[in-house]
Amino acid sequence: MKTLDDSANVLVVGASGGIGAALVERLLAGTSARRVWAATRTPDHPRLQALRATHGERCAPLAVDILDEHSIATMAATLRSDEPRLHLLINAFGLLHDEAREIWPEKRVESISVDGMLANYRINTLAPALIARECLGLLNHSQRAVFASLSARVGSIGDNRLGGWYAYRTSKAAQNMLTRDLSIECARRARRVICLALHPGTTGTGLSEPFQARVPEGKLFSPDFAAGKLLERIDAATPADSGGFFAWDGAPIPW
Ligand SMILES: NC(=O)c1ccc[n+]([C@@H]2O[C@H](COP(=O)([O-])OP(=O)(O)OC[C@H]3O[C@@H](n4cnc5c(N)ncnc54)[C@H](OP(=O)(O)O)[C@@H]3O)[C@@H](O)[C@H]2O)c1
Repeated sequence: MKTLDDSANVLVVGASGGIGAALVERLLAGTSARRVWAATRTPDHPRLQALRATHGERCAPLAVDILDEHSIATMAATLRSDEPRLHLLINAFGLLHDEAREIWPEKRVESISVDGMLANYRINTLAPALIARECLGLLNHSQRAVFASLSARVGSIGDNRLGGWYAYRTSKAAQNMLTRDLSIECARRARRVICLALHPGTTGTGLSEPFQARVPEGKLFSPDFAAGKLLERIDAATPADSGGFFAWDGAPIPW
């Protein structure tokens, strides 16, 4: 059974990010969603306002600060008052670098900073955990639903052969454990909820921008391509996939 059709209610958190905005656009363009809540720090972002103008109430920009648990709780309460049932929730936000705060992926252990570790952990690990806490009830109903977090292959412990990037790698590895943990609890008390960790592939966004020169020719995805592949994987997911970590092409990634 598929998740995405014209009766699906979808929440994308991080909706003005490169991949997040492309996911919202894809979901609204076809018949893969009835309504898309586009949660972001910047709900008045021109790209979202343009989608609102085109798609009317099918596109619902929503303000959220993922660093503030009260803001996440308010987002969930707004959704509950409007539509008590979600079929898909995608965590499409993430942090790798923040030049203004001098946060940069570490090449050496000596470069680890408290601010860098905590900033990565708060966005990449803690925010998905708080969103799961506040929104699981919206996904737990009589129909199939998917909780998907965009992770990164570099968060795989088994696949780590290059080292470095301590804050990002550890925060994504912890995010993957959260997804796995949640899938086990859902199997007990929210049986129709499938939990997925998804690697989008290297995609041309602000997050990858400083590292794109190293990407081999033809290997940098457009956000629209990555969004399409992620939605295909989400739609194909079965209960047996819950708790799994998958790449954009559907291939499993080792933990
Ligand atoms: N791009 C790649 O090559 C690549 C590769 C592997 C994995 N990923 C993963 O894919 C996901 C999406 O990445 P992307 O490439 O689309 O990145 P992006 O364009 O930089 O977007 C990330 C979004 O995260 C949200 N965010 C960042 N810092 C925040 C903060 N302090 N408070 C609140 N929100 C914050 C923002 O959303 P709002 O402005 O909407 O609030 C931002 O637009 C991330 O989890 C990333 O780790 C990306």
